[in-house]
This record gives sequence, C-alpha cells and structure tokens, in this order.
Amino acid sequence: PVPPATPQYRPAYHFSPAAHWMNDPNGMVYSKGVYHLFFQHYPDGMVWGPMHWGHATSPDLLTWQEQPIALFPDSLGYIFSGSVVIDANNTAGFGPNAMVAIFTHHDPVTEKLGTNKHQNQSLAYSLDEGKTWTKYQGNPVLKNPGIQDFRDPKVSWHAATKKWVMTLATKDCITFYSSSDLKSWAKESEFGATLGAHGGVWECPDLFPLTLNGQTHWVLIVNLNPGAPNGGSGTQYFVGRFDGHTFTPSSTTTKWADYGPDDYAGVTYHNTGSRRIFQGWMSNWDYSNQVPTSPWRNAMTVPRELGLQKVGAELYLTSRPVPEVSKLARPGVSLKTIRVQKQLDLTPQLKSVGDKFELKLTPQTLTTWAVVLSNSQGEELVIGFDKPKNEYYIDRRKAGKTDFNTKFAGRHTAPRLATGGPTELTLLVDASSVELFTDQGLTVMTSTFFPSQPLNKLQLRAADLTVTQLRYAPLAGK
Ligand code: FRU
Repeated sequence: PVPPATPQYRPAYHFSPAAHWMNDPNGMVYSKGVYHLFFQHYPDGMVWGPMHWGHATSPDLLTWQEQPIALFPDSLGYIFSGSVVIDANNTAGFGPNAMVAIFTHHDPVTEKLGTNKHQNQSLAYSLDEGKTWTKYQGNPVLKNPGIQDFRDPKVSWHAATKKWVMTLATKDCITFYSSSDLKSWAKESEFGATLGAHGGVWECPDLFPLTLNGQTHWVLIVNLNPGAPNGGSGTQYFVGRFDGHTFTPSSTTTKWADYGPDDYAGVTYHNTGSRRIFQGWMSNWDYSNQVPTSPWRNAMTVPRELGLQKVGAELYLTSRPVPEVSKLARPGVSLKTIRVQKQLDLTPQLKSVGDKFELKLTPQTLTTWAVVLSNSQGEELVIGFDKPKNEYYIDRRKAGKTDFNTKFAGRHTAPRLATGGPTELTLLVDASSVELFTDQGLTVMTSTFFPSQPLNKLQLRAADLTVTQLRYAPLAGK
C-alpha cells in the first residue's frame, strides 16, 4: 500500500520523480539547448528494485520535466548506473551525434552463481535526443573478468590521446579503460586501492579536467558507501594528473565534495563546454528506502558548478549552486548591518518565511553563529558555525520526523577549510532539504529533513555578531 501523499515535502527546484523510487543520477548530458538527467528508477515501487533509467529534461537545470522511461531491464539484467556521451564524430557507427549510453548490466540471475561476473558494461543509443533508445546488439561491450563490484562506467573524450576514456568502479579501486569506438575497450591502469577512504565499496566515479590560474588539473571523483565522514554514503575526490593512461594524485589527503549526509553518487554533466556541472542524489543508503515521502522517494541535489581553489599546498574542489538559481528568485528582502546579540528573530522583517528560499548572509567577523529554522511545534533545524572547533554543522535531530530509521537523526559536521576572514554563505531550502555553501564553495553540506509543520520562523543566534548583509528571496519552481 502507498502511504498517504506528502506534497509538503515535494521540492520545487530539485528534481524528484512524480512517483516511485529514485537513486543515482545517470547519463547527465547537455544537448541542443536541453539538459538531460537520467536516473536509477524503480517504477513499480517506492523502494529499490529492478533498475530502469528514468529520464527528465530541463532548459535551466532547475525546472525539470519528467519524460518516459529511457531504458528498461532486459535479458542481460537490470540497468545500473552509467553515463551518456554525444558521439559527434560517429566513432561507434550508430549515427553522427548519437547519444550513446554506457551503463552497467546487473544480472540478478548470474549474481546467484557467485562467479562475480554479473556486472558488465553495455551500450544503448538514441538518434532522437533521448526520446527512444536502442540497445546495442553486441552487448555487453566490456565483460567482467570476475570482480564482484564492476560498475558505473563514466565515459569522456580524452582530447590529447584522441580516445574515449572509461572510469569504472572496480570494488576497492578505479580502473581506467580506453576505446576509439566505444565498443572495444582496453584496460589502461588501476588507481586507489591504497589511497583515500575505504570504509565501503567504491562506486560511481568521474574524471575531468579543471583549470586554475591557467593550469589544468584532473579531478577524480569516487563515491563511497558506506564510509562517508558523517556516516553512510559520501563523495570523495582526488586531484592530480591524467595522461590518458594513468591517474597520478598530487596529494594523499582524503577530500570530500560534500560533508552533509545527503549527497551521493554525484558525477558531472557531459558536453557543457568550460562549465563543469555536478549533481548528486540527495539521499543516503543508510535510510533512503525509509524516508517519509509519498508517492515518491528521494530527489537530486541542486546542480553545482565546480572549480578549484588552493589552500596552503592543497588543491580543493569548490562547489557553488549554478547561477541559474537566481533566476528563480522572487522579490525578497535585503537587510544591512544587523546586530545579533544572543538571538534575533528575523521573521517579522522577512514578512514571511516560506519553505523554498535562498538565504545569503555575510558575517562581519569569524565567530560562532547559527541560523535556526523553527515552527510552533518546537521543531528546529540548526545550521551553524562553531568557531572553537572551526567547523560548520547541520543539526536535524529536532527538525521533525526522525524515527523511520535510527541513522537519520544527527548533528553533522564539516571542517572549515578556508583560512582567513569570513565570507558569504548561501543556504538553499526546498521543502525538505537544505544545502549550505560556504567560503566560496570550499565547504558544502546537504541535508534532508521532514518537519511535521513548515519551519516558518527564522532566527539568528550568536553571542555578538554583526551581519554585514543578508538577503532572503523565495525561490519559485514548478
Ligand atoms: C550507487 C549504486 C551504483 C549502482 C546503482 C544501483 O548508489 O549502488 O553503484 O550502479 O546504485 O542502483
């Protein structure tokens, strides 16, 4: 039975399927003015099941239109995560500019044999901008040599060697393959068995270049479940060099793209020119099958534009909400020089606090502060900075329903990586999620929450703090 509907938790500018189960974003690609988001989908239930690729399209990364299911399970298995490329030069022979999906076929039948050969990489292509798909007759194109976890191919064009490169999660490491036609793949190298976080299995990798001060660096994203800094699923990354064959990290420090509990399986869009846009699944395998929403489960994070920043000797990723977000802003309230002594209720000045908004604020000094969203039920969501510990946190222990899974309630923390003075921070709230972007995107946290009534009161807490500038704007979505 489907539980009673929960429209109050439905996000407006984050993608969620109209109904049923969703996990990883797949095959994100920009083509002919349209962003395509495919996703792990079980259209017959609200829990994980035989995987399909759902499909949604958007002109702006924020207003999404769900489309008919793109890929259905077949005799080779379920359709697990993967990527899409635009084959501009028709290297695979499916047709010029074909959209080619490279995904994992997961065969639940051979899985039971225990030979570890049940995950193989396959192709499908579309010649009508993702509307209809044909599976390649020669599937699978990359057979499993006998590795239990052998999945989530992310393919991109490596210009210097003029080859396609596949980044594949292979149990506790990443294996790189190359190909000139997307159909035959040669193993290049392995990376990571002795580096990074290994609390669980490595999944959903991505590899791409980013430029900082005219110098190109390669970023390798590796999703990990479990073993994230706040428990369960999380996204780590490495920065280094890639020559088409081997990835060489420039540091052995473990780094995380998002420290909150609810950003997983994120990878980047293909074909977006110099923009590098990342989007994750706004959930965590610890409790994703039990979150109290209906008739759907789970949403995607806001798409984020990635960059690099140097702190000391280390290179870090920066993630900022795509600027398209500001186009959703309705007239809001801007305040200057607000003095907070202990506690300040801003609700009257903001006129009304909705459940979908952007809040930007600039503290004048680096000191302990908190933004508290609350309601008359005594529920509160606290987003703050702890100066002595030099860490940000999101505390959802009292933010509403938590009893659906013992791992959900929590006060989650993230280190402040930036050095020096305070910078502006941005909060994006969308019905049942909050995303915190601080220090120009150096520290990011994403958290879902399920209040029993809207959190319609906004307070600031700090012993004594002047906020130089604060901007609140309701965000419109669908
Ligand atoms: C990550 C993941 C992938 C797999 C997919 C199955 O969340 O476990 O490794 O392809 O989900 O739905």
